[in-house]
Amino acid sequence: MNATDNNPANVLSRDVPVAVIGLGTMGHGIAQAFAMGGYTVRAIDETESAAGSALARITGNLEQLATVGLLVAEQIPDILGRITVCDTLEDTVTGTGLVTEAAWENLDVKKQLLGLIEPLVDEHTILASNSSSFPISESARDLAHPERAVVTHWFNPPHVIPVVEVVGGERTSDQTVDTALATLESIGKTAIRIDKELTGFLVNRVQVAMFREVFDLLDRGVATASEIDRAIRGSMGLRLAALGPLAIIDYAGWDISSATFANLAPDMRGDAEVPGTIKQMVESGHLGAKSGQGVYSYPAETIDEKIRQRDADYLSLVKLLHSEEDSA
Ligand SMILES: NC(=O)c1ccc[n+]([C@@H]2O[C@H](COP(=O)([O-])OP(=O)(O)OC[C@H]3O[C@@H](n4cnc5c(N)ncnc54)[C@H](O)[C@@H]3O)[C@@H](O)[C@H]2O)c1
Repeated sequence: MNATDNNPANVLSRDVPVAVIGLGTMGHGIAQAFAMGGYTVRAIDETESAAGSALARITGNLEQLATVGLLVAEQIPDILGRITVCDTLEDTVTGTGLVTEAAWENLDVKKQLLGLIEPLVDEHTILASNSSSFPISESARDLAHPERAVVTHWFNPPHVIPVVEVVGGERTSDQTVDTALATLESIGKTAIRIDKELTGFLVNRVQVAMFREVFDLLDRGVATASEIDRAIRGSMGLRLAALGPLAIIDYAGWDISSATFANLAPDMRGDAEVPGTIKQMVESGHLGAKSGQGVYSYPAETIDEKIRQRDADYLSLVKLLHSEEDSA
């Protein structure tokens, strides 16, 4: 973390509400994270079912946090009391200091939405996009004040995963980036300053580089899917949860890592072709948990429990991270 990232002077006042647009997979958890951090949150979704179920989904998340000891159950009513699901965009964003859009991943939708929000808010209100791929220079291109627009890229589930990437664009002001970083840190997030705007930002680029190799190993039949998962979890996965990749190399030695890279890289995939096995999965409708079948099976009656278990596993690791911070 840079010194400026945690400068309390840059944190958005908790007297000013924040807004979240889109309450799907990401938006409801983002609204929850701000409410847990003490902000009054106004939220909206254009789909009735998403708007209508948001508070129940957030309640379920909060109860799970209480179950694993990351929240005191008595705090739940206050946190929920800070969130209002509104009926109009105007009611949602007027008077807010930071608006996070978590709408569909479609550039036209994002541009249009930011264009609708801008005239309803103060010129200093930060407009943050949770896009996984569109740089803010693109989505905020038509704004009158693009200096207040920034990508804040959260990870799923957003109320659990600590990191949020903060990526300014060509015209984003330093003040906007500093306020976004400090505000996210103030609600307990690990806010990462990204200095260059690249497609996929930082984390997803590293993730896709790993996926390319994992897909290729699967495609070549090097090991079964479950053996690949077991191997990575019990080695790289464990190490990466404790140290960053560059610190890992510091311990391994840069000379060793340089030689390993030179030996292995020529034998590894470097192209952008989707491997055959993966194409087959998609063509046969094996899309993963959402279709009931990926490399593993997800019978409909077990899916809610499996997701709850996944989040409980993530939370037990987050708890370890918190206890490390507390004892630091
Ligand atoms: N799902 C992930 O793992 C993930 C991770 C990081 C970032 N993202 C990004 O977050 C954004 C949202 O993704 P998601 O997975 O939550 O999608 P989602 O489909 O679950 O939810 C999107 C929600 O936005 C609502 N919406 C769309 N346009 C709207 C508008 N104009 N006004 C109000 N509501 C609107 C939809 O009704 C829907 O409920 C996308 O940009 C996505 O790329 C997703």
